Amino acid sequence: MKDLTTSYLGLELKNPIIAGSCGLTGTLEGIVSMEQHGAGAVVIKSIFEEEILLEVKERMRDAKKNPMIYSGLSETLDYIDLHIREDRLADFLQLIQDAKKAVSIPIIASINCISDEDWTHFTRRMEEAGADALELNIFLNPADFKNQEFDRAYFRIIEKVLKTVKIPVAVKISKYFTRLGLSIKALSETGVSGLVMFNRFYSPDIDIEKMELAAPQMFSSSDEMHETLRWIAIMSERVTCNLAASTGIHTGEDVIKMLLAGATAIQLVSTLYKNGPDMIKKILTELDKWMSDQGFNTVEQFRGKISRKYGADPAAFERMQFMKHFSEIR
Ligand SMILES: Cc1cc2nc3c(=O)[nH]c(=O)nc-3n(C[C@H](O)[C@H](O)[C@H](O)COP(=O)(O)O)c2cc1C
Repeated sequence: MKDLTTSYLGLELKNPIIAGSCGLTGTLEGIVSMEQHGAGAVVIKSIFEEEILLEVKERMRDAKKNPMIYSGLSETLDYIDLHIREDRLADFLQLIQDAKKAVSIPIIASINCISDEDWTHFTRRMEEAGADALELNIFLNPADFKNQEFDRAYFRIIEKVLKTVKIPVAVKISKYFTRLGLSIKALSETGVSGLVMFNRFYSPDIDIEKMELAAPQMFSSSDEMHETLRWIAIMSERVTCNLAASTGIHTGEDVIKMLLAGATAIQLVSTLYKNGPDMIKKILTELDKWMSDQGFNTVEQFRGKISRKYGADPAAFERMQFMKHFSEIR
């Protein structure tokens, strides 16, 4: 085996493959299985801000129906509110602690958040539970017409969390920013250790017979990796933090492309659901063979090779390609 070691968020990974946040990483068995199949690190299934708030609201509603509990006492409700939050957090923290005992690969805790409200203090507890790093999935929906300060919210959340924890923080971002390149650069300069590019949104379709929305594709395909590839190649030489590639990465070939584009680590999810966790070993074997064939001994020897060509002046490069290819088509 070639030397596949990678430094991501300042953590030593035995290889650049990370099992991304999903149901498969939401249990101890799942996390252990990812390590056994060769993953370099695991991002635990996110704790969701909405999930916590919904449960708080439901219990509050039940409590209000019970005059013994409610009887207009706001202190009681405060207690219930706090207690529920503690419960949900306790399960999540326990999983971090158990995972840290059971595996030796880095454990990255994940929070899916939409505001900088009172969840940010949870992050310190995750650090205390032993998480090696934190991934914030800042899931602001570009279809939210009420949210006037979409981009600024990212910076506010990051600022608050960075003040709370000392462990490295990565932010999983959407590609729906105004002036995406400049936004990625600015986010990389906030003090975060990494950016995960990109979140995958609900992918709608329409059933034209029933004239209804069709079931969305739960899992990605390799076709979806090109936007990630493009932006990793454009940004990897311009940012001051690591970039992890995510979305549509299914095969060894896809992984090699992302590394050539300049990704430091690669997150896999859909391929693990579709092909099972054995896929991690297959991908690592393919990567190892390709490195042998190309005469590379370490990942660093080829990481970013393409971004230096393509990313130097992407606008000019793309304009030239556009002119070259489309003007030839009659
Ligand atoms: C079943 C399922 C559950 C997921 N749960 C989470 C989650 O809890 N937190 C998160 O940040 N992303 C979650 N994701 C998104 C993935 O981490 C990933 O960003 C997305 O699937 C794109 O990567 P892929 O093309 O490799 O699947 C989930 C995806 C799937 C399919």
